[in-house]
Amino acid sequence: AWAAAVGRRTVLLAEPRAFCAGVERAIEVVERALEVHGAPVYVRKQIVHNSHVVADLAARGAVFVEELDEVPAGATVVFSAHGVAPAVWDQAGTRELSVIDATCPLVEKVHAEARRFTTRGDTVFLIGHAGHEEVDGTLGEAPGRIRLVQSAAEVDSLEVDDPERVTYLMQTTLALDEAAEVVDALRDRFPAIVGPGSADICYATSNRQNAVRKVAAAAQLVLVVGSANSANSVRLVQVSQRDGAASHLVENVGDVRLAWLDGVETVGISAGASAPPSLVEELTEALSGLGRTEVSVRSVGRETVAFHLPKELRRAAATPS
Ligand code: F3S
Repeated sequence: AWAAAVGRRTVLLAEPRAFCAGVERAIEVVERALEVHGAPVYVRKQIVHNSHVVADLAARGAVFVEELDEVPAGATVVFSAHGVAPAVWDQAGTRELSVIDATCPLVEKVHAEARRFTTRGDTVFLIGHAGHEEVDGTLGEAPGRIRLVQSAAEVDSLEVDDPERVTYLMQTTLALDEAAEVVDALRDRFPAIVGPGSADICYATSNRQNAVRKVAAAAQLVLVVGSANSANSVRLVQVSQRDGAASHLVENVGDVRLAWLDGVETVGISAGASAPPSLVEELTEALSGLGRTEVSVRSVGRETVAFHLPKELRRAAATPS
């Protein structure tokens, strides 16, 4: 496999790729919390869905827990970028935990819509994937009144009380084309359905998908750096495959199988929104080690989005110690 993998090769880097603004903010929240409060700082769930990020923060004193009952009463806990249901806030209050909320503002936007639509009495459909933490959090805004729709095929069997008062929302990390299919099916069935004020699929998800498609159109193989539980990373692999490129999700360069490179002259590379950019550099360097490699960027534009830190940490950061 080694001999076949060696050779001249072109590497196409999709731009944008890797960390989004919500992930950078969430990581900074944990770092600042460690500075301000000292270790340990508890974090509910993986702060972002990337094993490298989690291992790095754990080594610096973050303690990752699944649920709040694992956090000692009165301690500081960070909520992950994916957001939480109101019931989790209630539980934190009962246990007198001090919460620093690293929920991405674009996930919080979907929560706000969920509250607005359910409060006015709509039947709300959330397009998304069961079991994802973001979906659990959004559904938790109005248990029983927001219904999950996972595919266009499910739409036929949906029944509502009042077809004139139906709304839909989306998980932020869906594939653009698949989500559009579900929306079309919902529109066919409920012509009066209303969507969110602005797109729920976030800028980072859309940009990474559009960029990876540009790369997939020109490459035989697309490698996507990301963890298996990262929804937006998995979508990048699926989108590339639908565009006709072979594609694999890799946690890091160690996951790359030389056989994949056999006869491949053009390799596309992207990374999910939770994956550190340094892992892409390592991967590109490793490919360069296999023969003369020309690296070029395929861009759909640069991102300039940045989010403020939560107010608890802004205040702490402004006070010199
Ligand atoms: Fe936020 Fe989108 Fe990143 S919802 S965490 S900006 S993938």
